[in-house]
Amino acid sequence: MTIISNQYASGIVNATEKAAIAASQLIGLGNEKLADQAAVDSMRNALNEIDFKGRIVIGEGERDEAPMLYIGEEVGTGNNHEVDIALDPLEGTTITAKGMPNSLAVIAASQKGGLLYAPDTYMNKIAVGGSFSDEVIDLDASVEDNIKSLAQAKKVKPNEITACVLERPRHQEIIESLRSIGSKIVLIPDGDVAGVIMTTQSHSMVDVYMGIGGAPEGVLAAAALQCIGGQMQARLVINNDDEKERATKIGISDLNKKYHLNELASGDIIFSATGVTEGTMVKGIRKLNNHYVTHSLVLRTSNAPSQYIETHHLI
Ligand code: FBP
Repeated sequence: MTIISNQYASGIVNATEKAAIAASQLIGLGNEKLADQAAVDSMRNALNEIDFKGRIVIGEGERDEAPMLYIGEEVGTGNNHEVDIALDPLEGTTITAKGMPNSLAVIAASQKGGLLYAPDTYMNKIAVGGSFSDEVIDLDASVEDNIKSLAQAKKVKPNEITACVLERPRHQEIIESLRSIGSKIVLIPDGDVAGVIMTTQSHSMVDVYMGIGGAPEGVLAAAALQCIGGQMQARLVINNDDEKERATKIGISDLNKKYHLNELASGDIIFSATGVTEGTMVKGIRKLNNHYVTHSLVLRTSNAPSQYIETHHLI
C-alpha cells in the first residue's frame, strides 16, 4: 500500500516549500531563533491544510519546551488516514543565520508507526548509499574496518573512499582514523540529514557518513535512505538522567539498542527537503520579481523515481 506517499505528497512538499520561503527571509541576519520560528509557523499552517490525521512524532521538542510542532501535536484537518510526521522546519538554523550553504526545510511522513519515535538527544550514526547489504557497515566496528569493508564492496581502495563527518571536537578520533588510512573527508559545519543523503548522490563524492548528530535528524535521514536506497545503523547517545527519562517516556526501553535502517524508518514513506540557502543537494530559494522559486528533493518508497521539483510561488 502506498497511500501516504502518493495521496499526501503534494501537501507535504508544499509544507517544506512554505517553511523554506519563510526562513529565507532571515538568511544572514544572525538570528537563529527567528529563522526557526518563521519556518515553524509556515510549516504548521501548511500541514494544517492537509486532509489527514497527522501526528508529529519527531518535532521541535516536547510540548513544554516547544509551543508549536511539538512531539504528539496533531496536525491536518483530522480526516482520512493516520499519518506520522517527522520534521525539521529548519535543518541548519546556524548556517541560515550565518548565510552559509546547505540549510533545508525537511519532512518525512509515513503510515502510523513507520518512523522511530526518537527523543531529542544525540545519536551515533553510520550510513551508506547504494544497494549494499546491511553487513557492509557496522556501527560497532572500527573506522578502518568500515572503510575497508566499503572499499571492498565498491571494488576500490580505502583511499578512494570519501567520508562525510560533522566538524566537531568529538569527532577528532574518527577524523584521525580516516586520515591514517588516506580516506578523504568532507567536513560539514552542520546539517547531517544532507550529509547522509549525500552518500546516495554520485555528484557529491561522499560514500559514507559517520559520527554523532541529532537523533531526530537520524530518523529523517533514515526515511530518505529507505526511499532512495542505502544502509544505516544508529544508536542513541544518552548523556544524563534527563535524556534517559525523555527516552523512556516515549517508549524506549533498551537505551543501548543498535538500530538498523528498517527499525528507524519503514513502510510507506514520503520525504521532502526544500533548500533554504544554496546547497549541494538542492538549490536555495530564489526571489524573482513577483515570485519565489523553491527547489525540493522528493523521495518516496512507492517505486516513484526521486524527483527534483522546482516550484514558482507568486508573492
Ligand atoms: P539545527 O538545525 O537544529 O541547528 O541542527 C543542525 C545540526 O547540525 C544537525 O544537522 C545535527 O544533527 C546537529 O545539529 C548536531 O548537533 P550539534 O550542533 O550539537 O553538534
